[in-house]
Amino acid sequence: VSEEVKTEDYLFKIVLIGDSAVGKSNLLARFARDEFYPNSKSTIGVEFQTQKMDINGKEIKAQIWDTAGQERFRAVTSAYYRGAVGALLVYDISRRQTFDSIGRWLNELHTHSDMNVVTILVGNKSDLRDAREVSTAEGKTLAEAQGLFFMETSALDSSNVAAAFQTVVKEIY
Ligand code: GTP
Ligand code: MG
Repeated sequence: VSEEVKTEDYLFKIVLIGDSAVGKSNLLARFARDEFYPNSKSTIGVEFQTQKMDINGKEIKAQIWDTAGQERFRAVTSAYYRGAVGALLVYDISRRQTFDSIGRWLNELHTHSDMNVVTILVGNKSDLRDAREVSTAEGKTLAEAQGLFFMETSALDSSNVAAAFQTVVKEIY
């Protein structure tokens, strides 16, 4: 993977972060290819996809980076964050532990990237209604306290997936 981020106009680097198995890779698969993998494996290293988006009639390219939530599978952290202007900070609404990790991910983001990186807190797996461990209100409250956008998504049923990426790109743009 090239560490270089092209500086051409309207190419925005966006990073996906959050604990393992919260659904980062499936959010990207749903957004970029309209695909979902019920049995996807942990990401190893770094992958990225470039997705064209239409924002107010202008064509924007979002270069979306995805890495492993698990430390042992991650690539060099500084390279992952370098040049990022947006971030999706993802937890799983059915596993409280992943919500409790958000502070740690925010620290890492702020250590390795510009403070101005546009960040949305994403509570994924909103389809798992019966298994919910983190309420919508808790997510909202944390996002407000940290100055983040907030949305609940489902990579499985597609709800709010495009909206979450669009929220970030619109704000950058
Ligand atoms: P790492 O690469 O290990 O960091 O994990 P990840 O965050 O990329 O998670 P991944 O996308 O691989 O998804 C983990 C598991 O959750 C897979 O079995 C997915 O099918 C499932 N999953 C992802 N998104 C959703 C969702 O919105 N709803 C439900 N029900 N399952 C999901
Ligand atoms: Mg992954």
